[in-house]
Amino acid sequence: MTSGTHLPDAAVRVLLIEDNPGDAGLVRAMLSESQGTEFRVEWVEALLPGMIRLGRGEIDLILLDLSVPDSQGLGSLTAIRNAAPNIPVVVLTGLADQDVAHEAVRCGAQDYLVKGELSGGALARTLSYAMLRQRNQARALATGSPAELGRAVGFLGARGGVGTTTVACHFSLELKQRTLSRVLLSDLDVAGGSAGFLMRATSEHTLQEAAKNLARLDENYWNKIVVSSADGPDVLLSRGFFAVEELANSERIRDVFDFTRSLYPWIVMDLGRLNSLAISMVLGLSDLFLVATLEVAVLFEVRRVVSRLADIGGNRSQLHLIVNQTPKHPEISPMEAGKMVNLPVDAVLPECRSELWEAYSDGKLLNAKTEFRRQLGRLAEKVAGLEAKKSK
Ligand SMILES: Nc1ncnc2c1ncn2[C@@H]1O[C@H](COP(=O)(O)OP(=O)(O)OP(=O)(O)O)[C@@H](O)[C@H]1O
Ligand SMILES: [Mg+2]
Repeated sequence: MTSGTHLPDAAVRVLLIEDNPGDAGLVRAMLSESQGTEFRVEWVEALLPGMIRLGRGEIDLILLDLSVPDSQGLGSLTAIRNAAPNIPVVVLTGLADQDVAHEAVRCGAQDYLVKGELSGGALARTLSYAMLRQRNQARALATGSPAELGRAVGFLGARGGVGTTTVACHFSLELKQRTLSRVLLSDLDVAGGSAGFLMRATSEHTLQEAAKNLARLDENYWNKIVVSSADGPDVLLSRGFFAVEELANSERIRDVFDFTRSLYPWIVMDLGRLNSLAISMVLGLSDLFLVATLEVAVLFEVRRVVSRLADIGGNRSQLHLIVNQTPKHPEISPMEAGKMVNLPVDAVLPECRSELWEAYSDGKLLNAKTEFRRQLGRLAEKVAGLEAKKSK
């Protein structure tokens, strides 16, 4: 599985309709400093030249001052929306006109910004969201129903090397094969990044790139970022070892996943170890599986992770334990381990070093008949609610 296509030109073309040169200059300057998405601003001073420019096409977003010399108030917005119903409009208003701004949003503007309260980061983010929202609305209209949002499940290692990536990869494969729906496996392990290796997925594009180009994130762009295969999950790679700065950038990464929820019914995350990125993702998950082995030190770590998650308001009922690398004759049973950490044990996976070695040497994941796969298949059915359906 390889993705190596070149992405489209990522600059967002903004038409700024604004009569005050000072405000126009400010918007320009702020957008030129935007990190990530590149904005190219074309400025006109009144509605009519704006409409003429729109007629020539190739505009991605309109930033509209509601009081320009040739049009005052919502009339400008209506004219623009009629001329270009598919282009998102963000309205610029003065402090005194917030009622008008709210009315503008009711009339189809994606958002509004108050002059004098602008800051570079917020401006760029507002424009990016406006584009995302417009696309989501267009898609909902095209399919006749609001997009159903996908569910995300996470795998988090109690300690390095317990097998979190191995479990997440095999689980996502089982989930795909048993639900027969689209599954996204995303590598969010900032220190490791080995999911791509196990899934044989290579690409020059990564999660970090998607996070930088939020405004460009549509289905077309997405298909170039992600690595797809016929019978396995789509794989979203991360930059691995070099991505430590992403810890500080988790908001944008969350935005990427909010977007992916409209494309995939299932999102599986390899979260690696507990760090600030993992913490920021946890509250958006429907299930979080803590992967551990039957070692006292590892179970001790599980307890620490559970209490840290409780501190940030995590829901205990979403937490489950997966015991991995279980020896044939363990000193304590997996159930005893679950009691020690006060978590339900949702899967007990056997030690299978030689099978893994053999499978990886052939460039494959474990065979579907292995106990490891079977256990994860059962878990996938439980997560997807297929068990209940079968027993009916
Ligand atoms: N059930 C198992 N039996 C035997 N070996 C296993 C099992 N699960 C994983 N391993 C092996 O343990 C090693 C670590 O696995 P993996 O990379 O999945 O762990 P991880 O917790 O994601 O590690 P990291 O902290 O490096 O991200 C690998 O060599 C893997 O093949
Ligand atoms: Mg890993």
